[in-house]
Parts: sequence; C-alpha cells; structure tokens
Amino acid sequence: MTEIPPPGSPMERSTLALPDRYLRPGTLQLGAPPPLSVYVHLPWCLQKCPYCDFNSHAVTAGEMPEARYLDALRADLEASLPLVWGRSVHSVFLGGGTPSLFSPEGIARLLSELRTLLPLLPGCEVTLEANPGTFEAARFRAFREAGVTRLSIGVQSFDDAKLKSLGRVHDRRQALAAAELAAEVFETFNLDLMYALPGQDMAGLEADLRTALAFAPPHLSLYHLTLEPNTAFALKPPVLPDEDVSAEMLDRLAELTAAAGLERYEVSAYARPGHRCTHNLNYWQFGDYLGLGAGAHGKLSFPHRVLRQVKWREPAAYMREALAGKAVSNEQEVARKALPFEFMLNALRLREGFELALFTDRTGLPPSALAAPVEQAVARGLLERLETPQGPFLRPTARGFDFLSDLQELFL
Ligand SMILES: C[S@@+](CC[C@H](N)C(=O)[O-])C[C@H]1O[C@@H](n2cnc3c(N)ncnc32)[C@H](O)[C@@H]1O
Ligand code: SF4
Repeated sequence: MTEIPPPGSPMERSTLALPDRYLRPGTLQLGAPPPLSVYVHLPWCLQKCPYCDFNSHAVTAGEMPEARYLDALRADLEASLPLVWGRSVHSVFLGGGTPSLFSPEGIARLLSELRTLLPLLPGCEVTLEANPGTFEAARFRAFREAGVTRLSIGVQSFDDAKLKSLGRVHDRRQALAAAELAAEVFETFNLDLMYALPGQDMAGLEADLRTALAFAPPHLSLYHLTLEPNTAFALKPPVLPDEDVSAEMLDRLAELTAAAGLERYEVSAYARPGHRCTHNLNYWQFGDYLGLGAGAHGKLSFPHRVLRQVKWREPAAYMREALAGKAVSNEQEVARKALPFEFMLNALRLREGFELALFTDRTGLPPSALAAPVEQAVARGLLERLETPQGPFLRPTARGFDFLSDLQELFL
C-alpha cells in the first residue's frame, strides 16, 4: 500500500495533484523533495560549431519560429505543473543552443510565464547563455530588465585564429565587448573558455586566461576541448595538444585562477565567494530539475521513486507534440541499483565533497548502499572520509579528483 505522507508535510503538499502512477508503492523511501530547478532549452544557433554535440540547430536570423516555440514551452510547462505542484523554484537556466538569439521580448514573455505558473524563490538565480556573436548593448540590458540575473558568455578564446579554427561566429573584439558589458550590467556573470585547442601552446593559454581575468569575472567555466562523436571534428580531427601538455595547462589554469581569488569548486567551475552557480550546484548535489524545451532532460523525485524525463529532441517535432500536450518523448524510473552511481557521478565532481546524509536524502537509500565502494576508494587513496559536526562527509582526495573517472567507476 502507498505510504501516506504526514498531513501538511512538504511531500504531501507536493503530491496532492499527482497522477496515481507517480505515487505507486516502491522500494525507495524519500523524505522531503530536494530543491527544484528549471532548465529551458532554446535550440537554435547562427551556425553549428564543429566540436558541438549539443541539441543545437543552425538557423538564419529572422527565420527562428520564436513565437511558436514560446507557445510550445508554455504548453510543456502547463502539462508539467502537476509533477511539481507546490514546490518552489531555486534557479532557472536558459541554455542552448544560443538563447541570446531570442528577442528580449521573447525572454521577458518566457520568464513572466514561469513566474506566473511557478513560485520562484526570492532572489532566484536566472541564468541566460549568450554568444558574443549576438552581442548588442541594448539587447543585453533588455535581458537584464526581463529578469535575467546572471549572464553566461560562450567566449571560448580571445584569440582570433583560435576562434576561427573553432568555427565560432564571433571574434576577439566581440568577445571583449560582451565580457565588458556583462561586468557592467549583470550582478554576476560567467565566462566559458575552452583549452587544449588546436595549435594552442602554454603562452596562448595564459594570454586567454589573463584576458578573461582582467574582467574580474565572478565565475569562470574552463572546459578541456573534447572530440565528441558525430561532430565535424570527430570526422576530421584537428591536431590537439597531447595529454601531458593539456595536464600542464590545467595545472597552470588552477594556479592562475587561485591567485586571482577564484576557487575551483567543481571539475570545470571556478568562482569567487558567493558566486557559485546555484543551478549547476543543484545538478551536482543530485537535486531535482524540470526540463522544458526540445531535448530537455528532467529529474523529479517522488515519495517512492526518482523519475527521468526527456522531451522530443527535434525542434519541429517538439513544437508539434508539446502544443498537443505531449512534450515528453521518454520517461523512465531510475532503477534502485542505478541510484548510487548516478548520485556519485554528480557529487564526486564537487571539490569539497558532500555530507553522507545527502545521499540518503536524495536517493532514499541507506548509507550502507555505498559502503563497499567507499571502502575500496578510501583504500586506493581516491576518497577520504571526514567526521564533521554535521556528520560524516565524503571528499575526493587530490588524486581522486585528478583521476575522477577511476573514482566514479568504483560506484558502477
Ligand atoms: C551549450 S554551450 C552554450 C553556450 C553557447 N552556445 C556558446 O557556445 O557560446 C556551453 C559551453 O560548453 C562548452 N563546450 C561545448 N562543446 C564542447 C566540447 N566539445 N568540448 C569542451 N567544451 C565544450 C563551451 O565552452 C560552451 O560555451
Ligand atoms: S554556439 Fe554553442 S550550442 Fe551553438 S553550435 Fe556552437 S557550441 Fe554548440
């Protein structure tokens, strides 16, 4: 029989309007639902970058079906409401694709619909991903007025030759202008840089990072360029720095960012105090997220199960199906035995580690479900167990952080 949540408890309030299949009995026992974020995918770009495997599609400016897509997002949101009934939203992330291709009026409409239909917490972080190739001062200011609190700019490099080899639509001048304006207009912002680029050497890497640091960014995301299957780079790979060089590059990035007061709090994320990305932290802490838009993924918790959802991937199919009230293309319950790995895959990315109690809060499983691989990881010097006033804590060692996939695999 389904266990009835105590009257008035957050779990009871969140489950009142739920279809029965989400409340069936199950082997998990979750307490209160975790923090909820909302991810909205806006899938168009001016052109497809040769390294990119995101769900992004080239579109000619002016041909993007913005109004229809916003109608579809609203229909998707309305159909999703019973799944998140009564829950407050901690963060919103408008990702892509290139969300900054949307008009400020379109972004204002989207955010106003989200605010009308969902309780956004006061001070809710609202991030928008922007490409410097879509840069115009008035546009960025209008995004701010529409309710965006945090801009994340896909700079990649400040070197014109590197930007060209990455197939980017923007140049150094536009990247500088976008970073300068983000610093002026937004209370907090992020710059994305990639490293280990075709033909990049240490001097080139340092020049890119120093240029970024000159804007005193509150947050930096530094990604090792990876050759993803089914991309133009995978078919015709460029010559990239070898592994030793890219490891040295990462050491240098860590040194220079630390000297500039940015803390590496996750594998690729560096922040000044108070500027960590709430939205991404919620993913890494195995929180919940509602995914809206083409190909968007969601993870939602219920008293006895954790559910994953995916929306139709192709923008045309997504719009058609979402407008007919059927945006979900795939929905699956996470198997009980898959939960420890799924949790650890995320949580081990955090430099500071996590309280062991978080594992039980998020998965409904006892700490004993992790005991054997934790023993093994500790014995191999990849993980440490700490006793803190809040209770036991798990943290990757420096070695575990450097060999993260070895550490994560122990939980498979
Ligand atoms: C989804 S993209 C969104 C930003 C925006 N579309 C842009 O590219 O300017 C997020 C970030 O992922 C990083 N990224 C994308 N593909 C990558 C790859 N193959 N290797 C490493 N980083 C990648 C880039 O730094 C990019 O800014
Ligand atoms: S702009 Fe960003 S999302 Fe679009 S193709 Fe390039 S990397 Fe991918």
